[in-house]
Amino acid sequence: MKILTIIGARPQIIKAAAVSRAVANLYSSRIEEKILHTGQHYDANMSQVFFDELGIPQPHYNLGVGSGSHGSQTAKMISGIEEILIKETFDGVILYGDTNSTLAGAVAASKIHVPVFHIEAGLRSFNMTMPEEINRIVCDQLSSICFAPTQTAVDNLRREGFMESPATFLHGKKRRVCNCGDVMYDNSIYFSTLASQHSTVMQQLNLQPGGYILATIHRDNNTDNPQRLQSILRALADIARQDNIRIILPLHPRTRKILDNTPEQPLSSCPLITVIPPASFFDITMLEQNAKLIMTDSGGVQKEAFFFEKPCVILRPETEWVEIVNHRAGIIADADYNRIIEAYRQLADHPVQFPHLFGDAHAAEKILQTILDY
Ligand code: UD1
Repeated sequence: MKILTIIGARPQIIKAAAVSRAVANLYSSRIEEKILHTGQHYDANMSQVFFDELGIPQPHYNLGVGSGSHGSQTAKMISGIEEILIKETFDGVILYGDTNSTLAGAVAASKIHVPVFHIEAGLRSFNMTMPEEINRIVCDQLSSICFAPTQTAVDNLRREGFMESPATFLHGKKRRVCNCGDVMYDNSIYFSTLASQHSTVMQQLNLQPGGYILATIHRDNNTDNPQRLQSILRALADIARQDNIRIILPLHPRTRKILDNTPEQPLSSCPLITVIPPASFFDITMLEQNAKLIMTDSGGVQKEAFFFEKPCVILRPETEWVEIVNHRAGIIADADYNRIIEAYRQLADHPVQFPHLFGDAHAAEKILQTILDY
């Protein structure tokens, strides 16, 4: 069977590592995988570093699409992916998550009857102003197999009628929904030891285990709204000062660009906050494993916080990973100064439970076996 894996943004490259590893180790005689990179993320520390560290094969195709408005970025990807799918025959495409690269892959492949396999299907924020929510809903609808990472994701698809849907795909096949666990959990377990062997970030930044907070901010509704961004940064600076604790902030290029053009700079007035470039996977894994607590608007970092048993302040109005909030391991604080401070106090001062919720670290194998069976 010949599969095209389509990736483009940082989290997809990371997730693809788990499946590529399972293809190489367990399915190399039955599955041939080729990789297409749309070029959505192009800075070396947003893309190439992950190929180098995680042992993912270099992409066979790179569309070099780069940045742009949603429409023009997605349109260039659709046309580039379609061209490749017409030139070379594939039995299916694997797509990850909810980025514009996911949307483009789903539209291009489904229109020319190449089956779509969506990993991280069924997640919903129920916030239709998020570009990611639009992307994941469209991709789920166009997918022959929806690989849901959690029971909540399965329940969301059931509520949207996926189980009873009369829709048929190529050769009259019905859609499948599979609760396979989370490929990110596979990766965190697999790479945590390697990260501690290879990463020197703790020494470079002079950090002690449990002695700092890790924070990340990159969602467009936080970065592109000056009031929200300032409110988050003020809360971080005040927490650092009040508790005399360092905060490590690896900055996404989007956030960096906005801050470079902002006159008011709460970060420069707080020496306890250390801004670093986007971290490699080994470095972010070390920073997560050793943090006292994590504050983030990233979906992936929320989960990795949970995998490494770190409480998490969620800098968004809602989350797709509701299990984390239901188990009180994370608190939704949005970009609200007071709620961020309160959530930090609550999580820093009280013990938190971290039950197993994201599978058994063998999600990638289940995914490949299900695709072969289909
Ligand atoms: C994208 C995904 C988001 C994911 C995130 C992970 C969409 C709609 N969103 O958001 O779901 O959580 O990736 O990082 O696809 N930029 C650079 N260098 C790069 C990449 C981006 O400078 O290598 C800058 C560009 O100015 C670009 C901006 O960041 O315009 C935003 O990048 P974009 O790909 O549009 O979305 P992300 O915010 O990265």
